[in-house]
Amino acid sequence: MIVMENVCKNYGGTQVLRGVQLHVRPGEYTALVGPSGSGKSTLMHILGCLDTPTTGTYRVDGEDVSHMDEKALCCLRRDKIGFVFQGYQLIARMTAAQNVAFPLMLRGVAQKERLAQAAEYLRQVGLAGYENQRPSCMSGGQQQRVALARALCARPRLLLCDEPTGALDPESRDGILDLLDGLHSSGHTIVLITHDMQAASRAQSVYRVQNGTLQPGRG
Ligand SMILES: Nc1ncnc2c1ncn2[C@@H]1O[C@H](COP(=O)(O)OP(=O)(O)O)[C@@H](O)[C@H]1O
Ligand SMILES: [Mg+2]
Repeated sequence: MIVMENVCKNYGGTQVLRGVQLHVRPGEYTALVGPSGSGKSTLMHILGCLDTPTTGTYRVDGEDVSHMDEKALCCLRRDKIGFVFQGYQLIARMTAAQNVAFPLMLRGVAQKERLAQAAEYLRQVGLAGYENQRPSCMSGGQQQRVALARALCARPRLLLCDEPTGALDPESRDGILDLLDGLHSSGHTIVLITHDMQAASRAQSVYRVQNGTLQPGRG
């Protein structure tokens, strides 16, 4: 389903990704681990079609995304990809439920229906009763769970999670990892970035990101 061939990414004169090869089959659960600054988020943004490689190719379901215009990329993200950002990226003026329902709004789902679905996903991440809270009134861990509920609400085939448990206490963390296990069992394709080897060990394939390259392995 997703194939990266020899992907390189430069920012100015700095090469952040250096020839990344990555194949993820439909329904596969993949974890990427690596030290901070190694290029994990940069790689995730390319996987999520939020950024493009400087050189190399990236194909989603056989289509080379580097040849797509912004409108086509937008549709691809809306229809296939859920993204949990490392910095949450919640919309400050919206309530938790409105944030979670946002992908459904983009798809034209009626307000009542989308807020009902949002409430269900907030419940799944342990935030029942927080529907009308604004992000600024929530803890980092709560905001992180709202961000995950927003990604889940669109029921994406490909779910990309950039350190989705980084701000969580151990109990909430295990709850979220169990939720990802459940999504994997029901056929979702997941790419998880984490610092946490215990979290990574739940995935089927683990790669280390090191100096902008990808190495297979759990060590
Ligand atoms: N938009 C950007 N412009 C310039 N440099 C960037 C940008 N995004 C990331 N970088 C640099 O790329 C490197 C990798 O960053 P990142 O992908 O965020 O790493 P990680 O997620 O593994 O911590 C870092 O040195 C960072 O400073
Ligand atoms: Mg990062």
